Amino acid sequence: MTSAQPSHASDQRDPLSSNIRALGNALGRVLTDQSGAAAFALEERVRRMTKELRASGDERLVQELQELIASLSVSELHGLTKAFTLYFGLVNLAEAVERLRVLRERDLRAAPAPRTESIAAAVAELRGHGVTAEALQRWLDGALIMPVLTAHPTESRRRTTLIKLRRIFDGLLDLSLGERLLPPEERGAILTRIERELIGLWQSDDVRLHKPSVVDEVENGLFYFQTTLYDLLPQIHRAMARALAEHYPEHPWSLPPLLRFGSWMGGDRDGNPFVTSSVTVDTVRRMRASMLRHLIRQIDALFTELSQSLTQTSVSQGVDERIAHYIRLFPAEAGTISPHHSREPYRRLCQLIRTRLEHTLAHTLHHELQWASDPPTLPPPTVYHRSAELLDDLRIIYASLWANGGELVADGLLRDVMATVAIFRLHTATLDIRQHSERHLSALTEIFARAGICADYTSLEEAAKIALLTSEIASTRPLTPARLTGYTPETAELIQTLRTLAAILEQLDGEVIDTYVLSTTASVSDLLGVLLLCRETGLYRPGVYSRLNVVPLFETGADLEYAPRLFANLMPLPVYSDHLRLRGQCQEVMLGYSDSNKEGGFVAANWALYRAQVELTEVADRYGVRLRLFHGRGGAVGRGGGPAGQAILSQPPGTLRGQIKMTDQGEMISDRYLDPRTATRHLEQVVNAVMRAGFAEVLRPPEPGWITVMEGIAAAGRDAYRSLIYDDPRFYDYFRSATPITEISRLRIGSRPASRRNSNRIEDLRAIPWVFSWMQSRHTLPGWYGLGSALAAFASGGEDRLTLLRDMYQQWPFFTTLLDNAQLIITKADMDIARRYAALVSDPTLAQAIHSIIQHEYATTIRQICLVAQINAPLDAQPVLQRAIQQRNPYIDPLSYIQIEVLRRLRANPPDDEQDDLETAILMSINGIAAGLKNTG
Ligand code: PGA
Repeated sequence: MTSAQPSHASDQRDPLSSNIRALGNALGRVLTDQSGAAAFALEERVRRMTKELRASGDERLVQELQELIASLSVSELHGLTKAFTLYFGLVNLAEAVERLRVLRERDLRAAPAPRTESIAAAVAELRGHGVTAEALQRWLDGALIMPVLTAHPTESRRRTTLIKLRRIFDGLLDLSLGERLLPPEERGAILTRIERELIGLWQSDDVRLHKPSVVDEVENGLFYFQTTLYDLLPQIHRAMARALAEHYPEHPWSLPPLLRFGSWMGGDRDGNPFVTSSVTVDTVRRMRASMLRHLIRQIDALFTELSQSLTQTSVSQGVDERIAHYIRLFPAEAGTISPHHSREPYRRLCQLIRTRLEHTLAHTLHHELQWASDPPTLPPPTVYHRSAELLDDLRIIYASLWANGGELVADGLLRDVMATVAIFRLHTATLDIRQHSERHLSALTEIFARAGICADYTSLEEAAKIALLTSEIASTRPLTPARLTGYTPETAELIQTLRTLAAILEQLDGEVIDTYVLSTTASVSDLLGVLLLCRETGLYRPGVYSRLNVVPLFETGADLEYAPRLFANLMPLPVYSDHLRLRGQCQEVMLGYSDSNKEGGFVAANWALYRAQVELTEVADRYGVRLRLFHGRGGAVGRGGGPAGQAILSQPPGTLRGQIKMTDQGEMISDRYLDPRTATRHLEQVVNAVMRAGFAEVLRPPEPGWITVMEGIAAAGRDAYRSLIYDDPRFYDYFRSATPITEISRLRIGSRPASRRNSNRIEDLRAIPWVFSWMQSRHTLPGWYGLGSALAAFASGGEDRLTLLRDMYQQWPFFTTLLDNAQLIITKADMDIARRYAALVSDPTLAQAIHSIIQHEYATTIRQICLVAQINAPLDAQPVLQRAIQQRNPYIDPLSYIQIEVLRRLRANPPDDEQDDLETAILMSINGIAAGLKNTG
């Protein structure tokens, strides 16, 4: 791909272009060497044609290109797709490197001022606003920022590919950051390394040959901890400590683990029959074993470091006592210290801690869980059950070092290890469990019927359901037998899962799970039903303990609207307030961005989510309950995606009280956490935003009038969206044929099925394939459709209305973010390419009719955004991003034309052997388009 990058005046002055050019050249060489000059010539020909096409829009050229692609064999299509996909993979790396380079230059220029959007910048800003140390300490004491990794199927690349790309990234970074300092031979060596990885990529399978299992997904998640997060999070903790000490030197800070991670991999069973109770146990074992191995390595490093000797310094009595305690616990260890270390008590204690960690690891891997054993089966004292036990051991060393002139030593590696334990505990990430409310309803109905309590629970009125659940929660009679014979497999699995959770928390790890999310919660009885099953399985004992947060997930417009009333009815119920009291008066609520978007469109969903947050906070305040919002958002704008810091700052002021969870999904995980430097930047921006949003001094509430305006815009947006998606009978056919939805549903990129039910309704389709298919076919409709007509309808009411919208855009972060995200996604749309996909619809009149409705709304949306944001074209205010997207577009086109051709062949019912190759081609084109758009779905 020799001239793949548009030339710039001087590569010398534009490191990004020169990196892209160098990578493009290297890729061109690999392509020629590996596949021959003809393959390279074909790629160059297609590239030139699509580029020319962009410039001229000449229909004859389209025809020529389509004929050329139609004449190619599947294997030629594979090769071509591979070349363009790799090209985007490399461009993405070059851009990420550039981002870090610019950041570093800015840091150097700005020093000693803190980096923008960093933790230090947030602390400095709070100090500047007069926030006192006491207020900040109170905030920190209750704060929690928890990104939650999910296995949502939007990462279409293999881990093998990601690892190779990361190696190239490291090479590029070395070249870029060390530019002037590198001797030529080192530079040459790096270039060779890069080329070696490129060849490796070329010679490896691009796509998974099999659907990943749930365990594969768990291992994928763990990979990011092992390669990046275990080391990174303690550093972020340290950065926070430094910033606090610098800006509030007078305060004795106590710093809790502000930033911790959660995971859904192996815990989220909503619509995924492969996540069984035994898979969840396996997941806990794997997450814990991974952490314990990391901790053993850390303790070994401490052993090496803490050589303080009794001949040179003193050691506190607590250390001796702890050593004596452990010798009693592990008598075989009594004589194991080497004579070299006999005068080094810290090393002695480290060795014993290591022994206990090893016992813990063995127990984690081999202990057979017992359910409802009486007396309870508790872990033996030789294993760590909770992180506090390990922390306590480390604190003894820490205190002793401080008391004996070793403060600086204590505050080095030891403090990082202590932070590691506080952050990851003994299990890496908190594992959330999720199940769908319908599953619960049918399970309860079956359980009540078999226990002879109620013949048909489902058909009861809500009030009767609540009455029954309340009395059963208070009762102690068991509802299910120990052996679940005769129950439907679904109900048996649900009960078994809850029993297993009780056993895990009792016998394996007391902290690994604390949240049970109920999808599509719509009523009080939905939540009480969970509580009853918790009572039944030993997870809840009224008045004594409640092991899990019961968390509703609100996803549809109607559920979001009703949620505050649901809470107002739920909170005062004595059974529920008992549970809340036992959970520290904290209620978590999950907000689903994707499904609300799919149901009501981009504008209405965003507004419904905003309002729900405000109103839920009010209700929670009324009952003295602390609300923790859990944002279920994806990578693409149509699933709540967009820049993370901006998303946090655009929440309603006063609703973010320091505790927040948010999902990190699919391709966003590698985007954010594959490289430690990129991950640092992302996480510091998140912490910065959460800290600032937590203080009224920083965020200003919107004008009441703006709220009224938004009500109208949201309603109009919803009408416009629904009138096409749900009310136009022609739309479904268009969707099925003009997007790769059918093929995406069959993809091997995630363990779960694409639909919760076997139906043809858009309502039942999961949001991911919905957004995914519109992204690939370049309509990108879920991220903007309805916004344009809604803005136009409002603005048409008079000149002053446009001024009002402009004020809102300039002063209200929610509205700014709404329009900015729409700009981002609409720039990734391409109506011309979308029209080529529309040609796949068998009825051309229908295709033309629906396509022109979409095109009309697209044009209106662009026009309206530009009027309000006072720009000439979307993203005018972000020229770097705008240019990056525009430069990519011509290179995505070949992949789109290839995808259309492959769809055509696949839909013509090819023979079985060809079918497989074509499906691989689809998957490859998806990878390529996703890399080009920097969004999967
Ligand atoms: P879900 O997620 O289908 O698992 O609820 C939707 C999404 O993340 O887009």
